[in-house]
Amino acid sequence: MKAAEIREKFLKFFESKGHTIVRSSSLVPSNDPTLLFTNSGMVQFKDVFLGLESRPYTRATTAQRSVRAGGKHNDLENVGYTARHHTFFEMLGNFSFGDYFKRDAIKYAWELLTVDYGLPQDKLWVTVYQEDDEAYDIWAREVGVPTERIIRIGDNKGARYASDNFWQMGDTGPCGPCTEIFFDHGPEVWGGPPGSPEEDGDRYIEVWNLVFMQFNRDEQGNMAPLPKPCVDTGMGLERIAAVLQHVHSNYDIDLFQHLIKAAARETGVTDLSANSLKVIADHIRACSFLIVDGVIPGNEGRGYVLRRIIRRAIRHGYKLGCKKAFFYKLVPDLVAEMGTAYPELADAQQRVMDILRQEEERFGETIENGMEILESALADMQTRGVTTLDGEVAFKLHDTYGFPLDLTADVCRERQMSVDEAAFNAAMGRQREQARAAGKFKMAAALEYAGAKTEFRGYDELTIEGAKITALYLDGVSVGSLSAGQSGIVVLDRTPFYAESGGQVGDQGLLLANGARFAVSDTQKIQPDVFGHYGTLESGALKVGDALTAEVDAVRRARTIRNHSATHLMHKALREVLGGHVQQKGSLVDADKTRFDFAHNAAMSADEIRRVEELVNAEVLANQATQAALMSFDDAVKGGAMALFGEKYGDEVRVLDIGTSRELCGGTHVSRTGDIGLFKIVMEGGVAAGIRRVEAITGDNALHLVQKLDAQISEAAAALKTQPAELTQRIGQVQDQVKSLEKELAALKSKLASNQGDELVAQAIDVSGIKVLAAKLDGADVKTLRETMDKLKDKLKTAAIVLAAVDGGKVSLIAGVTADATSKVKAGELVNFVAQQVGGKGGGRPDMAQAGGTDPTHLPEALAGVQGWVAGKL
Ligand code: ALA
Repeated sequence: MKAAEIREKFLKFFESKGHTIVRSSSLVPSNDPTLLFTNSGMVQFKDVFLGLESRPYTRATTAQRSVRAGGKHNDLENVGYTARHHTFFEMLGNFSFGDYFKRDAIKYAWELLTVDYGLPQDKLWVTVYQEDDEAYDIWAREVGVPTERIIRIGDNKGARYASDNFWQMGDTGPCGPCTEIFFDHGPEVWGGPPGSPEEDGDRYIEVWNLVFMQFNRDEQGNMAPLPKPCVDTGMGLERIAAVLQHVHSNYDIDLFQHLIKAAARETGVTDLSANSLKVIADHIRACSFLIVDGVIPGNEGRGYVLRRIIRRAIRHGYKLGCKKAFFYKLVPDLVAEMGTAYPELADAQQRVMDILRQEEERFGETIENGMEILESALADMQTRGVTTLDGEVAFKLHDTYGFPLDLTADVCRERQMSVDEAAFNAAMGRQREQARAAGKFKMAAALEYAGAKTEFRGYDELTIEGAKITALYLDGVSVGSLSAGQSGIVVLDRTPFYAESGGQVGDQGLLLANGARFAVSDTQKIQPDVFGHYGTLESGALKVGDALTAEVDAVRRARTIRNHSATHLMHKALREVLGGHVQQKGSLVDADKTRFDFAHNAAMSADEIRRVEELVNAEVLANQATQAALMSFDDAVKGGAMALFGEKYGDEVRVLDIGTSRELCGGTHVSRTGDIGLFKIVMEGGVAAGIRRVEAITGDNALHLVQKLDAQISEAAAALKTQPAELTQRIGQVQDQVKSLEKELAALKSKLASNQGDELVAQAIDVSGIKVLAAKLDGADVKTLRETMDKLKDKLKTAAIVLAAVDGGKVSLIAGVTADATSKVKAGELVNFVAQQVGGKGGGRPDMAQAGGTDPTHLPEALAGVQGWVAGKL
């Protein structure tokens, strides 16, 4: 049975048992920053299990694309070394949301395996959680599995609920005891039943895990019962396919065999059993689907996991002797295998290829040098009898040559060596520390500060009185006072000035104290909670301890917060219009605009832009009050706040509700959405592969834009002597007019030239029976030159003619010789004779030749010399 049929049969089986077939969700869990990737079928139903979300069905079945690389479930290291580990796999699952529980889950699984898939009953073994008598009894009494093939597994991993038979999505979230079904591959394969000392062998292979979801685990490890007991099952498609196709390794199933052949083709390898081919076949699936789901290779978070997998694949290609980009060429093969089941893959084919190719080209620049360094280190270790690679070498490979640690470790492992990870991490930490110090130095010239933190009052107030100066800096050095004319930094005990963070720029404004006036041009944090007011003391003096009035530039702030609040609404609208894969990749909010970068694979159409504008403006018109609340990070995420993965949040976070959007944000915002005024997108473009940028404006900026556009249109209309409403039509008319004038002009030019031609006939001089003529035609183009030439040849009968035209610094030349004279004079030579003198060269047939030149100054002499040149030929 082919993998595709197995998938289909599974879904249809559960559909026949009242389950709704639900599409695979994205590999990037929507709104769940606790999870790196979708690692099983239940992820998209997490909130349904928790009772936070309800669906129109209580039974569902899916074939879910899943990645286990990075995070709690990580198989990256094992790929290529075992018969059944993958970074990417498909999980077939059935789910009950408070509907059926253990009995039906077990019976359905048994029926599908033994009847529909036709597996022999005596080849199947099961495990249950130690304490789960209910499941045990169902297997033993109701299904009739002999008790010697039912094994109880307790907390075998060292802690309460840490068991192979207790499943958890991650460190927190829904979990519960499970029962697993194993297939016995037979005595010719080494290994023992689950729970035995030989269980890691390959004889008894787990094919299906039925989880009885009962608890929600929190960060402290507390287990709260779920509102209703649920069922979550997972069967790896690749494993069951191996069983049903009577092969031992997952890599021998049809789907993988095709990819392995493709990998062999692209790397030029003939031995299909090469391990590296399996790694490449595995990795192309993970990498392609991650890109489909909006992940871009990068240096942190999900992007870095993707980069690691791509580079690991490239390294395996390199190992096979392939030194050019090959990996991206496997995408069409993958689409052929899986594009029908996953149309989103087929749709994204070109983008996936582009991104992979770019990443390959990039790593291609350093892999060779990096491998040389690694090889020489390994050779050196061998001679010294050392088996651990120096962490500093691994770090250099990482830092300079882009070798992720696991790639280096993978190479070492092939030679039975390992990497000193502790030393690698130490080197990494040192570099981070240096970078941080350098960053601070650049920002605030390594400011020494030991005083109290700054209290930020700017959420509600723009002016406060009696703020005290806690420190002053001049040229990066702490000073007791500043005098008029000096530029420096003022630190206050409390301030209404917002310091740049979260993409929002720092405030500007004034600090005023009897006679002293300090113009703040920027506000930046000099330490995590210490705000530095950067600027110039325009008059008076300031000293530490002085009290002053701090006044934020209210107009600039108002413009900034409009743009910031609009950013939240726009983020939400982009997800609605373009899809849930849209994720913020960077933002800048200042008084002029909001600039927002996000993951998306195509340019936005004019219609998509218009829809985003309409959604945001609808929120503006709804004029809802903004709510800000402080709460724990967990509560915030449970409440559906958009949090950015990889971003650090403290224990307590600020949750902003603006219109219908909810985000974690420390920025300053409008009180009601109506304060934003008109929202208008002014630019949309690409910034990197898979990353788009939009810029938008709000409030008075948007008004000014509309006014400016209006004025431009009015001016254009006035220039064309029409009304703005008729502008397009008028432009059409003008274009038609221009076209017909051009036609007329061309006709006139040709007529003019032929008139000139008539006059020229008289200038021809007879040289031994050949009429010789060399002349410049004013205003003629090449076409006219040619037409004139034809006419002259007609009229002069036996002739050698050169015509020239000058346009700016460019000389066009044409020479013609009538057929009866070509035995004596060749047009090509003639045109060359003239062209050489005007900085050019040319050639052509004996009767007609063309040339160009760049030096018109010598044209008159050159033409004057033609007669003598022809005479010399006769
Ligand atoms: N969620 C369960 C697993 O992944 C079914 O094994």
